[in-house]
Amino acid sequence: MRNVGITGLGHYLPKRVLTNADLEQMVETSDEWIVSRTGIKERRIAGKDEKNSDMAIKAAREALKDARLDPARVELIIVATISPDSSFPSVACLVQKAVHAPRAAAFDVSAACSGFLYALTTAKQFIRNGVYKNALVIASEKITTYVNWNDRGTCVLFGDGAGACVLKPVAGKRGILSDYIHAQGHFGDLMMVVAEERDPLDQQTKMITLPHIAMQGQELFKVAVNSMAAAVGIAVKKAGLKLSDIDYVVPHQANDRIISAVARKLHLPKEKIFINIDRYGNMSAASIAVALYEAVERKKIKRGDYVVLVTFGAGLVSAANVVKW
Ligand code: ACO
Repeated sequence: MRNVGITGLGHYLPKRVLTNADLEQMVETSDEWIVSRTGIKERRIAGKDEKNSDMAIKAAREALKDARLDPARVELIIVATISPDSSFPSVACLVQKAVHAPRAAAFDVSAACSGFLYALTTAKQFIRNGVYKNALVIASEKITTYVNWNDRGTCVLFGDGAGACVLKPVAGKRGILSDYIHAQGHFGDLMMVVAEERDPLDQQTKMITLPHIAMQGQELFKVAVNSMAAAVGIAVKKAGLKLSDIDYVVPHQANDRIISAVARKLHLPKEKIFINIDRYGNMSAASIAVALYEAVERKKIKRGDYVVLVTFGAGLVSAANVVKW
């Protein structure tokens, strides 16, 4: 069994910025409400002709370059997404074509905001078991496709973006030390994509609407805090560590208050936690991938650090990994 580590990182953020001031012009809201309830100040929105795969490809190219991995040698590509260009071909196949990785197997993983850690954990198994020598794992979301811009309860929360990493075997007791992926399908109705259709024979039924996010925010908030705190505890224990051993935490960025509540529950100082929700909002699966990229880039994470990645998402799905950097 080989240890598997993250040997390269990449990211991509669309150029268009949607500020809270912009949202004040669109729905009845205020910068003060959004910042105090969520911590979000602005978010990125993919360009009109910018597809999910365009973002995924840019993040993938950067990760491959960072890992000095020739695309021709890539053996596995997994893309975590719930907002693909279309249901098929997969975004992973579109990436494979664009980066010229003819040897690779390629597929998408659907686990909402937990997708990046679900994909990381899946890819890790293939390398650990010796099936593949490397993997390119990408999280890419054009989640704003599913935002109802008339619903102030949800439209302030989301943004688009992509992050990527390369996994390879590493020497010594380094790399991904533990993983935990979990699902609680009975909480599925707390957040879902819905669309109403008119029955052609029944004029009383609702008009057709585009598929859009429907969310029970307060309930989701409570489950999110409990699920993330539990996931951290389990992953840390599986790694044979104590919470006090952890140097840094990179959580999913859904709400600054959720992150604070998890930190309080686990008695973790907020200085040990990476936050960039103020600039990007919730980018679903891409949030944690971009946060990891920025935490490393800003030297918040150093070689030898014990790092926890933790997330939750619609499903409800939660996940955590402990990584020795
Ligand atoms: N601006 C102004 N007022 C607003 C807005 C807004 N953008 N949105 C809601 N309100 C109003 C509501 O209408 C309500 O008014 P009322 O009291 O007159 O009825 C009031 O503010 C309070 O609304 P709540 O929904 O109770 O506000 P809350 O404090 O719970 O914050 C929020 C809402 C931010 C959505 C919070 O519940 C939350 O973050 N929940 C978790 C969301 C989440 O994590 N989603 C994604 C997870 S899954 C994934 O990432 C894929």
